[in-house]
Amino acid sequence: MTFTTQRLKKAARIILIGAPGVGKGTQTERLLARFPQLASISSGDLLRENVRNKTSLGVQAEATMQSGNLVPDSLILDLISSEFQSKGWVSSAAAPTISSSASFILDGFPRTATQASNLDTLVPVNFVVHLVTPPSVILSRIASRWIHEPSGRVYNTDFHTPKVPGKDDVTGEPLTQREDDSIDTWKQRLHKFEETSKALIEHYHKKGCLWRVEGDTSDEISPRLFAEVERRFC
Ligand SMILES: *[C@@H]1O[C@H](CO)[C@@H](O)[C@H](O)[C@H]1NC(C)=O
Repeated sequence: MTFTTQRLKKAARIILIGAPGVGKGTQTERLLARFPQLASISSGDLLRENVRNKTSLGVQAEATMQSGNLVPDSLILDLISSEFQSKGWVSSAAAPTISSSASFILDGFPRTATQASNLDTLVPVNFVVHLVTPPSVILSRIASRWIHEPSGRVYNTDFHTPKVPGKDDVTGEPLTQREDDSIDTWKQRLHKFEETSKALIEHYHKKGCLWRVEGDTSDEISPRLFAEVERRFC
C-alpha cells in the first residue's frame, strides 16, 4: 500500500489493542508512515536500550531480571516517563504536564487495567484502538501458512500458493508448517488474549477513548483506521 501523509492538528496519544494475529505491527507501521508526527514508543525497546546504555533505570531493570524477577510496572513507567522527559514532552516527573505536540503510539504497555490506571497519571492516552478480526479468520489464515524452512520462504494456500502444492517454488523441496503455528497453540493464545484484555478494554471504554474496528484483513482495517484518526486529530 502507498499513502499520502497527513498532518495532525491535535496531539494523538494512541494505543492499539488486538489479539495476536490481527496485525497490530502492520497497523502501527502504516500509521507511522501516514502520520509522520507520530513517534513509536515501545516499552520493550526502551527496556533494552536502557539496559544497553547502562542508565540507572537500565541497571535496576537488569538486576531485577537477573535475579529471575519480572521488571515491575513502576519501573516500566519510569522508563516511559524518562523517555518523555528526554523528548521534552513532560515538564517534570513530579507534576507531569504533557506537551501538546507529543503524538505517539505506545507499544507493549499497558497490558492490564492496573497498568493503564498508572499510565493515566503520567500521560492521558486519548485514542485506544481495539483491532478485531474474527478468531475463525485468524485461525484459517494460520492454517493456510506454509514455509520452506531452509530459505524462510513463506506461502499461503489462500493467496500465495506454491506452483506445485506442498513444494517450494525454487528448490522443489517440501513445505512444512511451524510448530508454533499449530491450531491448538493459536486457540490458546487467542483465548488467553480474550481473558487478559477484557479489563483493559473496559478501562478505556469507561474513559470514553475506546474505538473498535473490525476487519478480516489489515488492508480492510487500515483505511477505516486512517479515516478515524483524521476525523479526530486532523
Ligand atoms: C542510548 O544511547 C544512545 C547513543 O548514545 C542514545 O542515542 C540514546 O538516546 C540512549 N537511549 C537511552 C534510553 O538512554
